[in-house]
Amino acid sequence: MSISNRKLEHLEITLYERVEGFTSTLLEDVKLVHQALPGFDFSDVELSTALFGKKVDAPIVISGMTGGSPELEIVNRRLAELASKFRIAIGVGSQRAAIEREDLRRSFAVVREVAKDVPVIGNVGAPQIAKGYGLKELMAAVQMIEADAIAVHFNPAQEVFQPEGEPHYGLSILDKLSDVSKDLGVPIILKETGCGFSREFVRLAKSKGFTYFDVEGAGGTSWVAVEMIRGMRRGNWKAEAAKRFLDWGIPTAASIVEARSEAPNAFIIGSGGIRNGLDAAKTIALGADAVGLALPVLKAAESGRGDEFFKVFIFEMKVAAFLSGSKDLRQLKAAPLVIKGDLLNWLTQRGIDLSTYLKMRGTAHERLLR
Ligand code: FNR
Repeated sequence: MSISNRKLEHLEITLYERVEGFTSTLLEDVKLVHQALPGFDFSDVELSTALFGKKVDAPIVISGMTGGSPELEIVNRRLAELASKFRIAIGVGSQRAAIEREDLRRSFAVVREVAKDVPVIGNVGAPQIAKGYGLKELMAAVQMIEADAIAVHFNPAQEVFQPEGEPHYGLSILDKLSDVSKDLGVPIILKETGCGFSREFVRLAKSKGFTYFDVEGAGGTSWVAVEMIRGMRRGNWKAEAAKRFLDWGIPTAASIVEARSEAPNAFIIGSGGIRNGLDAAKTIALGADAVGLALPVLKAAESGRGDEFFKVFIFEMKVAAFLSGSKDLRQLKAAPLVIKGDLLNWLTQRGIDLSTYLKMRGTAHERLLR
């Protein structure tokens, strides 16, 4: 099957089959503490910031999803129109097909054409790095969309169940990327795809100089589910095993804390299962610098409800900031939090002392100002 056809099938499955809801982000275990006197008016709440050197109206990234065929150009155009209208950042899906075939580049380039002034993030897969991609291919990906940063996605759980998957995940990937980053000219973001980053991963990546992470934890779109469905359609034997792993991964809330506790000065995107503005506000308060979301934006854009979706989403983010006494992102990052239930249990067992963490996350944020 060609990469383009696979991308179309991914889009169809994520839009019309059940691919989420198998496990939780654990954001329900995070409570922002209500403040009866916020100390300012609701209209004073300010979410604007800078991401990758460009001003955005809110710290939101439309996570990389698609591109690679003429049909997908239309989808990318719609997503880019939303990014431009709401002045938020946008990623593209894996650019592999277009790195290898120049005629497919338009389906990615359209994003920069439409979203002229906002951060645009490129995308390639870690297995491609293992198989030989280097500076030349990453440069091509960056130039294709005049990217402000490039995400390298880690998807071992998807590759292992994908009928035609390529689970190449040797340690050399980080060393190669670290070499490439010296001459690339834009930051490399290490990005998961729905199973989250662990402390161990972030510690290793940090030791090799990486400072941008997009955690994409569990609790949202499951790529194990997507490949299970593809496998079932083809009678592939791996589909049965995939059922056992539908809830695999580090819940998004836990992954943010795991990442931030290891890398106080990194730039962290909290993502995976972010579904509304309250989730987003909690994500920032928990330690992320920005939030990312994929499937809900795709669904809203495809049904013509994209404007409504972001209007409500940003309103909810502002309400959560207002009611927690946070006038801007800096204050939201230090807002009082209570962490309970499974998330508390997870963090305790992972050796993260919460009172130390909560003090640190609020003061470690004057970082990498981009
Ligand atoms: C994705 N995602 C993705 N990620 C990536 O790094 N490269 C890619 O090519 C794709 N392709 C893709 C296609 C479609 C249709 C969807 C819905 C998603 C994964 C995405 O960026 C994100 O990590 C996960 O979907 C989890 O976020 P949500 O969907 O729970 O918000």
